[in-house]
Amino acid sequence: MNILAIDTSCDDTSAAVTCGQCVLSSIVSSQIDLHKEFEGVVPSVARRAHQEQIAPVVAKALQRAFRLPRVLNHSRNNGVAQIIKVGMEKIDAVAVTHGPGLAIALEVGVEFAKTLGHTYGKKLIAVNHIEGHVLSVLAQNAKGNPQRNLPLPALALTVSGGHTNIVLIKQIGQYELLGQTLDDAAGEALDKAAKLMGLGYPGGAVVEQLAKGANTNFLPLPRPMKHSKDLNFSFSGLKTAFYYTIRDWPKDRLAQNIPHLSATFQTAVFDSLVAKFKQAVDITKPQALVAVGGVLANRELRKRIRGLGKLYNLPVFFPYTTKLNTDNAGMIGVAGFYQAQRGDFVTDINSLDREPRAKL
Ligand code: KG4
Ligand code: ZN
Repeated sequence: MNILAIDTSCDDTSAAVTCGQCVLSSIVSSQIDLHKEFEGVVPSVARRAHQEQIAPVVAKALQRAFRLPRVLNHSRNNGVAQIIKVGMEKIDAVAVTHGPGLAIALEVGVEFAKTLGHTYGKKLIAVNHIEGHVLSVLAQNAKGNPQRNLPLPALALTVSGGHTNIVLIKQIGQYELLGQTLDDAAGEALDKAAKLMGLGYPGGAVVEQLAKGANTNFLPLPRPMKHSKDLNFSFSGLKTAFYYTIRDWPKDRLAQNIPHLSATFQTAVFDSLVAKFKQAVDITKPQALVAVGGVLANRELRKRIRGLGKLYNLPVFFPYTTKLNTDNAGMIGVAGFYQAQRGDFVTDINSLDREPRAKL
């Protein structure tokens, strides 16, 4: 089953073509450069960029997957429309992220999917973005590798710029949200710390690079929620503590210590993530661990999650490529495939709407 998948949940316009669990093509048009100068995602800017990018990105995903000629018509807009028309003939259903995410950004993807559904008579599949992240560990390349068998129940940690969740995967399609952030997401906290240090946006990957080999205990930073009995996270207190510590530092002191500050802040965030994930393992006794989302692109965090797997003698699953960690439509296509297998299609295309606060 060939699925065209679309995700516009935040600041990346993405489209992919999947066949079963195989990602045949995946295109991500990043808006980082647009949001950089504002040091964060500006919703109206995101929406406009999605509107401009969605058709070319979908066309490119179809063109790559089915090796269509690059230009089917001389005029650029007609070319995009032509590629979409020819490519859609090979598509069985359209999967689109309907939430959670930024409302006006989600809307662009959902409306585009609805138009494709109407124009080409295709079924739609409304996918939850978090389920997409969770099932990204089952995505395969175009040759069907890697072949994985995920033992269930599995416990998933999903950490990105917009979410920080602990999810019990009881069955594929059957999830229990055990914990979430009460304020900032872990990636958001890393981004804000990076901003305070003048490292630009988004900061997670820069902080990772700078932290290498530096002192992880340079400042006393709190480990919020360490003693709470629940499985929720909180990162805004950590960010505030960091801010109050460095705000009056002279510029050169700050500049000299950026690697130590990066390592110390990153470690505080990861300590909280790992401690709560461990607590959840003790409670749920899963058969496997899953760790997904943009922040899991971080090697240090992956190492710590692998360590947890070793401690409990559990297999650990990350997406097979870090391209599947950050937002992408490939994972939406994979989740859409499992939904299609359950017959979970949108029953009335007209009534499909974005759900910014969609729950798993
Ligand atoms: O999954 P994602 O692309 O988008 C959301 O759904 O939010 O995640 C983006 C987040 C950003 O906060 C970014 O700083 C963080 O993931 N990130 C990283 C790394 N690469 C991206 N955080 C830590 N280490 C990295 N290597
Ligand atoms: Zn995401």
